[in-house]
Amino acid sequence: MSRAFNLSALVRQDLQNAVPYDAPFYADVVKLDANENPHHFPQEVLDKIFKEINTKALCRYPDALAAKLRKCLSDYISVPPGNIMVGNGSDELILNLMLAFTTGAKYAVATPTFSMYGVHGRIASGKMLEVPRRDDFSLDVDGLIAAAAMPEVKIVVICSPNNPTGNAAPPEEIEKILRQVNAIVVVDEAYNEFGGVSSVPLLGSYDNLVILRTFSKAFGMAGLRVGYLLAGSGIINELLKIKQPYNLNVFSQAAACAVMCNLPPFQERVKNILQERERLIAELKNIPGVRVFPTQANFIMFRTTLPADKVYNGLLGQGVLIRNVDGRLLPQCLRVSVGTEEENNIFIEKLKKVIGSG
Ligand SMILES: Cc1ncc(COP(=O)(O)O)c(C=O)c1O
Repeated sequence: MSRAFNLSALVRQDLQNAVPYDAPFYADVVKLDANENPHHFPQEVLDKIFKEINTKALCRYPDALAAKLRKCLSDYISVPPGNIMVGNGSDELILNLMLAFTTGAKYAVATPTFSMYGVHGRIASGKMLEVPRRDDFSLDVDGLIAAAAMPEVKIVVICSPNNPTGNAAPPEEIEKILRQVNAIVVVDEAYNEFGGVSSVPLLGSYDNLVILRTFSKAFGMAGLRVGYLLAGSGIINELLKIKQPYNLNVFSQAAACAVMCNLPPFQERVKNILQERERLIAELKNIPGVRVFPTQANFIMFRTTLPADKVYNGLLGQGVLIRNVDGRLLPQCLRVSVGTEEENNIFIEKLKKVIGSG
């Protein structure tokens, strides 16, 4: 053992109180906590992926720039391949954005929102400025513009539809922000396939716009980790300096291409999720003491008169896992992902029991 080695003298002081990301893993629960697609990945598409992947393909490094996948995405979303970058989940792209632009600087975030903006910004030594949403969770547009005007603010982050509140931002508000700030505006559209108007049409007019999308939600590929980013070539070139060379593995690249070429089963699944979402909202509204917030995503945020941890633990005790999002900005709130019909029925039945006994 080295006598000279003193780990605590070497660690980053700013990360001393950071806690490793910990997503609870429970076998055999009705899993409605992470906004995944509850339907199994279509077997016929999986068969096509396996046909594409041969023994030779696995021995070689993947295409670092994922040319084939970017071409498939370009056809899907009508954005040139040069304006598309793919990542190991949009999580990786969020970290890359923070590393490329906010290290030692600041970024403004419309909160409450997806927690990884806080985590990745901190890893990149950026300082997050919270711009709280209004009472109805709409954007404080002027607050975001004012925050972006502060010294050293490099990025403004808006999730639309927003996680966990579920509401989407009107494109006019996004455009007003894009027009008035000297900062990169990241619009995270992870849930766009479930609702909300996309900012993609604004890409040609604003070179400070970055859009994030993912295969983890509508396309049922959370386990394969594929996200993508759309932006002008100036921003893409900066991000390429940060990108890990072989960030997206061979299998995930092939899978994402196969999804893009076989959209109907995924569109069917989205349709089913949207129908179930409306049914779930109606069921939740019938439960006394539950307030449901409007959503354009594949999840629903609701508030109960009981403490959120009581509801969360009560459900978990009965085999249903949802997300407790209770906090300063979201008192007594919980978030449930829309599951299959059967999962949703179990959730409603158990929630009624928990609330009834509360
Ligand atoms: C708003 C938002 N962005 C990004 C992600 C992460 O997506 P990915 O699985 O592509 O990393 C999530 C996941 O829940 C999310 O809610």
